[in-house]
Parts: sequence; C-alpha cells; structure tokens
Amino acid sequence: MDYTETANIYSQKLQEPEFKKIQDFMLTKLGVKLAPIKIVMVNSRLIKRLKASGIHNFPDYINYALSTEGIRSGEQQSMIDELTTHKTEFFRENEQFDFFKDEVLPEFVKNYRTPFKIWSAGCSSGEEAYTMAMLLNEFQFNHFGFNFSIEGTDVSKAVVEKAIAGIYGGANIAGLDEKLRKKYFIPFKDGKEDKIQAGNALKDKVKFSVGNLANYVTYPNNMFDVIFCRNTLIYFEDNAKREVVNNLLRKIKLGGYLFVGLSETVSQYSKDIKQMRPSVYKKIG
Ligand SMILES: C[S@@+](CC[C@H](N)C(=O)[O-])C[C@H]1O[C@@H](n2cnc3c(N)ncnc32)[C@H](O)[C@@H]1O
Repeated sequence: MDYTETANIYSQKLQEPEFKKIQDFMLTKLGVKLAPIKIVMVNSRLIKRLKASGIHNFPDYINYALSTEGIRSGEQQSMIDELTTHKTEFFRENEQFDFFKDEVLPEFVKNYRTPFKIWSAGCSSGEEAYTMAMLLNEFQFNHFGFNFSIEGTDVSKAVVEKAIAGIYGGANIAGLDEKLRKKYFIPFKDGKEDKIQAGNALKDKVKFSVGNLANYVTYPNNMFDVIFCRNTLIYFEDNAKREVVNNLLRKIKLGGYLFVGLSETVSQYSKDIKQMRPSVYKKIG
C-alpha cells in the first residue's frame, strides 16, 4: 500500500448512519450500549480494520463486517475485538480478593463445598482468572482436600487467545507481587523485552473459551460457587444488564457469590441476592 492510499484510509470519517448500524449491532448481539459520544472512539478503532481488511471506506466495511460473509471470514469477530474494552490487571480492585480469601473461602471450606468452581465472566486477557488461580493454589497448601477449577470466558476471541497463551509483560504485570510472579510464572525474553508466562500450576486449573454474556446458550455448562463479572456490565444497556445478572444467577449455586466491579451495583435487578458488601452479592433464593 503506498503513502497516498494509507493517508486516504486515515482520513475516512465514520458517519451517523454507519455508526447507528454499529450501535444496533453491539446492542443486539452483545448487549453493549455505545453512547453517541463513542463515535470518535469507534472511528479510530475501526480504521485499523479498514486497513487490514482491504475495504477502505466505512459504509462498505460495515456492510461487509455485518454480513454472513463477514461472519464466515472472521471480520465480524475482529470488529468485536476492536470495539470491546479490555483493560484489566492482576489483583485489580484487590479489596475484593481480600474478602474472597478471608471470608468466602473459609465459609465454603467449612461447608465442604469442594471442588470449588469459579467463573471469570468477561475475563479479558486472563489476569483476573490467573489471580484467582494463584490465591486458590496458596489456599490449597493449607487446606488438605480442597480442590478447585476456574473458567474464563469473553466475547473477544483475541483476548481469549491471549489468556490461553498466558504471556504478559510491561505495565501488565505491575500489580503482580514478586514472590507470586517467581512462583507461578516462567520468565523469558521476547526480543529485548522481559516477559513472563503462566506456568502449569496455573494453566492446569484455568480453562478459557469464547462466550457471549448476552447469549445464554454460550454460558459454561456448569454451576459455580462464585462468579466474578467485574467491569463488564458497565458497558451494557440497562435491560441487557438485568437479563445478564439474572442469567448469571441461574449459574450460581444457592449460597454462592456474585462479584461485580467496585463501581457497579446490581441489587436492583433481583430479589434473590443479598448485598454482603459493596459490589459483592450472595445468592439467597
Ligand atoms: C474491562 S474488561 C474487564 C476484565 C476483568 N473482568 C477485570 O475486571 O479486570 C471487560 C471485558 O468484557 C468483555 N465483554 C464485553 N461484552 C461482553 C459480552 N457480551 N460477553 C462477554 N464478554 C463481554 C470485553 O471483551 C472485555 O474483555
């Protein structure tokens, strides 16, 4: 591609009618609401796809990505990968992990609920699920007979692939305690960059797959003691959020817990949950 062609792609502007198509698609397919102000963000994120797909204008690109052919070729998935926000980190919102470790785990052990099953719903690149795997491994050392498994799902195939690879570097690993890093990750050089990869003690315990929270048939075929669905529902439209919360509750065992992000509240969506502390709910019905 020559300079003029590249410059031409970068000068493309997403117009209202095309943006509306994307808003409708994201709402219907993912439950995600894109506010009008997001047109700028969508424009800049999709420019990359114009370049990669070889379709160098928005109207044609969007018609293609939303078509059956776009599904078949994987372009629709690539568009979803771009339009979802994946920010995450190890031990994010750490006070929730403290509560999980100090209150939830001892309660379950007392009631002999093992193997303990956890779901990281909207797992992004896996940091949340691997954080839990480290905590649970540590817990297991001191609790003979305790066993656990973790599932992570996300609608973005690109981040699920990263989670499966379990490779992290740079700012990504800032929140990771050095002792845990040395114990559970293998260091290696990627060119000049220092990276780490999750070792088998973590990988054997965590299974990742693509799943859409707005589509119940894609939910894991399991019942869970705890679901973490943090910083994901904030992107959902209110009705979709209500439906997802109730669907998540169908997957939690009675007495189990739902953790949402610290800025999120879901008590208004169900009578079957009791708020235990900010953003932590127990299934009571
Ligand atoms: C901001 S990340 C949160 C990651 C992690 N839970 C945390 O708190 O650090 C939100 C994730 O939700 C995913 N997501 C958005 N809509 C979804 C849907 N309909 N089904 C499943 N995952 C979705 C995005 O792809 C993204 O990886």
